[in-house]
Amino acid sequence: MSELSVNDLHLDYGTGAHANPILKGVSMQLQRGEVVALLGPSGSGKTTLLRAVAGLESPKAGTIDIATRRVFDGSRNFEMPAEERNLGLVFQSYALWPHKTVSDNVAYGLKLRKVGSSDIAARVKAVLAQLGLGHLGERYPHQLSGGQQQRVAIARALVYNPQVILLDEPLSNLDAKLREEARAFLRELIVR
Ligand SMILES: Nc1ncnc2c1ncn2[C@@H]1O[C@H](COP(=O)(O)OP(=O)(O)O)[C@@H](O)[C@H]1O
Ligand SMILES: [Mg+2]
Repeated sequence: MSELSVNDLHLDYGTGAHANPILKGVSMQLQRGEVVALLGPSGSGKTTLLRAVAGLESPKAGTIDIATRRVFDGSRNFEMPAEERNLGLVFQSYALWPHKTVSDNVAYGLKLRKVGSSDIAARVKAVLAQLGLGHLGERYPHQLSGGQQQRVAIARALVYNPQVILLDEPLSNLDAKLREEARAFLRELIVR
């Protein structure tokens, strides 16, 4: 069974005479434990595909399955809302909330999902420790380095224990040295 299965996905931006086809029958499969990188020139639709899988864009045809759940089916006009898809998402700009502490940034999605506060505290603590951020929970984003901010964004995605995690150029905001470190750290996180 695939963890993620995209079949013959079609997506246009704009409608009618202004329709601009971006995805023209994309299919991909992701097996359990597998790491897949989408490669393609700028503007080829990589971000669009990730956003469609996440439920942030509406394709016009095709299907998307996450494990055993069909989350998009163009033929039935069915779209599961983004917040029910339980995906981990890390976007190109980390978009941390500047006025929330690191812990609150990571906790936010669990609060939205009405997880109990003692459970939230335990899960936030565990994921921060896992990413080497255990001592930074009370800091604000502007008090962190770029590499640390990137780890907070990843912690925020991992805290739900998602079946699939989508990373959109997660290293592009880092300088060359930090990028090397982040690569090693992501590799370790994935292998574990
Ligand atoms: N919200 C949008 N509305 C209209 N066109 C868009 C929108 N987002 C992206 N595009 C266009 O869709 C194409 C694919 O963009 P994108 O998925 O961001 O490519 P990539 O991530 O591979 O660089 C580009 O031509 C881009 O200009
Ligand atoms: Mg992109």
